Amino acid sequence: MKRILTGLQPSGTLHVGNYFGAIKPMVDLQDQGEVFLFLADLHALTSTQNADELRRYTREAVVDLLACGIDPGRTPFWRQSDVALHAELMWILSTVTPMGLMQRAVAYKEKVEKGIAANVGLFTYPILQAADILLYDADVVPVGKDQKQHLEITRDVATKINETFGEGTLKLPDAQISEDVAVIPGIDGQKMSKSYGNTLPLFGDEKATRKRVMQIVTDSAPLEDPKDPAGSTVVALYRLFASKEDVRRMEDEHRAGGVGYGTFKQRLFEAMWEYFAPMRARREEILARPGYVDEVLADGARRARETAGVTMDRVRRAIGLS
Ligand code: ADP
Ligand code: TRP
Repeated sequence: MKRILTGLQPSGTLHVGNYFGAIKPMVDLQDQGEVFLFLADLHALTSTQNADELRRYTREAVVDLLACGIDPGRTPFWRQSDVALHAELMWILSTVTPMGLMQRAVAYKEKVEKGIAANVGLFTYPILQAADILLYDADVVPVGKDQKQHLEITRDVATKINETFGEGTLKLPDAQISEDVAVIPGIDGQKMSKSYGNTLPLFGDEKATRKRVMQIVTDSAPLEDPKDPAGSTVVALYRLFASKEDVRRMEDEHRAGGVGYGTFKQRLFEAMWEYFAPMRARREEILARPGYVDEVLADGARRARETAGVTMDRVRRAIGLS
């Protein structure tokens, strides 16, 4: 059985784009292999330096991911900072990582250009990510396109360790890049992203979410005019939630004219609200169980430590620390 590992930064309230682009694929992967999933809070520290915010985002992400179907019975689910071995292996890896390799990393430059302070943690971010992956002998790492270079760096660093200290010290993982994951549009028609302020939250309250849906940008075709379904953000989003027949009906009504965007948006909201209803219910259940999140994280950390401990013993012996 393949070991599939991935990490998510707890960096904000989850939105519909995150759900279809990252969360749902991961939930489905639980049927295809042994999934290991963690919240990369140590990574988040490179950009979020507000204790309450980090705590809140981390906790919310755990609750939301469980609500979306991450099954902690099957899937070890932990907080990176609870397993100190991530940081220990990172140090060891950093001692074989050539400066040049890090200097070629693009994510650092991009983040600094965006205005994030150029701290050393941001620079060595990929080495911590390599440690996250290599600690668990992961076979595959499903990530977005933007993470491709980080996976190449992970393989380079593992190769360097193996060449220096013996083949088989670390296992080389494969990236699973989801090239074909559709980009979910936000309410302005651009890629939905928290940085663009155009998101539909996954678990927002009903009134506010309806209002967001009603704010979706459309052209100004009057009610009676025909409308282009291909260019409609409302249709694009509706496709995620509605049956084929319902989508076809909405497309036909666009072409025919006589129905306004307001009606389409109402219908989109209803479909979306219904789609997430089971997850909302599960979320309420989780929130009503005090201590449940802590139990999940404690159990996840225990299982993660067990697996990571085996790798660390092997690494320590190979490099002369034991
Ligand atoms: P954001 O763009 O809101 O900052 P992140 O970069 O934190 O989102 O992305 C977290 C995960 O969600 C990534 O795997 C990313 O590919 C996925 N994702 C984010 N926005 C979208 C979108 N609009 N469509 C598809 N997937 C998305
Ligand atoms: N860098 C990843 C991101 O921003 C998050 C991450 C941290 C990660 N460690 C990881 C992803 C290990 C996969 C495997 O999305």
